[in-house]
Amino acid sequence: MNAVTLPDGPSLPRFVQGGLVLVAPLWIMRRLRERYGSAFMVNIPVFGEAVVISDPAEVKQLFTTSPEIADNLDVNLGMVLGPNSFFAISGEAHRRQRKLLVPPFHGRRLRAYEAIVEEEAVREMATWPQGREFATLGPMMRITLNAILRAVFGADGAEAAALRDLLPALVKLGSRLVVLPLPRTDLGRWSPWGRMHGYRREYDATIDRLIAAARQDPGLDERDDVLALMLQSRYDDGSGMSRGEIGDQLLTLLTAGHETTATTLAWAVERLRRHPQVLRRLADEVDAGESQLREATILEVQRVRPVIDGTVRQVHAPSMQLGRWTLPKGQVVLVSIYLIHQDEALFPNPRRFDPDRFVGSRPDTYQWIPFGGGARRCIGAAFAQMEMNVVLRTLLRDFTLEPTSERGERWHSRGVAFCPAKGGRAVVHRRGGERRSLDQAAQAEAAA
Ligand code: HEM
Repeated sequence: MNAVTLPDGPSLPRFVQGGLVLVAPLWIMRRLRERYGSAFMVNIPVFGEAVVISDPAEVKQLFTTSPEIADNLDVNLGMVLGPNSFFAISGEAHRRQRKLLVPPFHGRRLRAYEAIVEEEAVREMATWPQGREFATLGPMMRITLNAILRAVFGADGAEAAALRDLLPALVKLGSRLVVLPLPRTDLGRWSPWGRMHGYRREYDATIDRLIAAARQDPGLDERDDVLALMLQSRYDDGSGMSRGEIGDQLLTLLTAGHETTATTLAWAVERLRRHPQVLRRLADEVDAGESQLREATILEVQRVRPVIDGTVRQVHAPSMQLGRWTLPKGQVVLVSIYLIHQDEALFPNPRRFDPDRFVGSRPDTYQWIPFGGGARRCIGAAFAQMEMNVVLRTLLRDFTLEPTSERGERWHSRGVAFCPAKGGRAVVHRRGGERRSLDQAAQAEAAA
């Protein structure tokens, strides 16, 4: 076995480094990159001594390496989402689940979900105030939650209402428990883990009712929701998914898919209000029934404001040669999505919000990585992009979004995802009225 070689890093004690990561996670990453280059060590709670990488060749190598060499690190996600969650399984178990659950999120099925997303967006936006500033994060959360409840859980009526109440609380607490180093003991219903277990029992009871109803549904094989597909799907050996697998994976899909998509949409609003020229072109484009700039805008929002700032792997083989480094078994590796997206060599003038960089060109799979990569790349990436596209299209079609000259909103960590600190505040007017303020602001931006 080759001798271990690891990059350099700060020698500050773990609690100091951990404190910095908690208080200023992006600032500390930028500083460490300036000091040590594209790879460095950190020593932080939850991950321990981890190698952080942001060189595209090393990132590509890590993402494409076989899961036998490097695969997931189960932090507390398995504790929160269950032992059968994507985030808790690896190797063959993970491969089997991917094979079954990738198809529902592609092709014909996605088109079926598009109508659901538009309905939910129209319904939510009908309640938006006009001419008065409000935070869009809450509304975006409701749109993505309702869309996912229908597309994934196939839930409506009493079960949907129960899940709509329960899931935001469960996800919020879960996001905190994943990053907070609290003892995992259940000290009754007032303790964090006690509350979590209570939520989970309620969730399981609702899922049991949904499964029982689905099994009795004579039209089950015509349904497009993921639960119906799970109940009918078969592994290569002919067996079906177990009740535990179905429950854990439904919760995983919801948790991974709802807040990430909503926070990205809130960032889209935040960025667009500060770029009136882009906003005006997008409004013209929607009127023309086209979508190229909108799709590029979503890619650019995800580049400049990746809501998940990094993804993680752990070396499972006795050792791994990763670019310049020889990593020992058990080594944790963090891919900094944030740093790679801010790399001047890959994205000239990286802090500038410029959707045109993606007009007519697809981003590179290992340089534009808001959905991670390789065998663990986000399973819902196409769903999320469809959803963001439809929500943004609906917004631009039905409303004028007022630009602002206020400073950009700061990044705020919600535990797992980063959102705009003020929730992506917006002022909207229903279309058909004035577009003057937008045109004036766009002209002022051009003159500047
Ligand atoms: C803008 C929205 C989203 C973002 C930014 C996002 C981001 C990510 C990232 C960074 C990962 C880790 C990938 C890796 O380790 O390489 C991931 C995994 C995952 N995401 Fe997403 N995601 C989004 C939406 C969704 C949606 C809508 C769903 C489902 C409906 C979903 C389901 C999952 C699942 C199941 C995994 C685990 C995959 C595995 O381990 O095999 N995500 N996502």
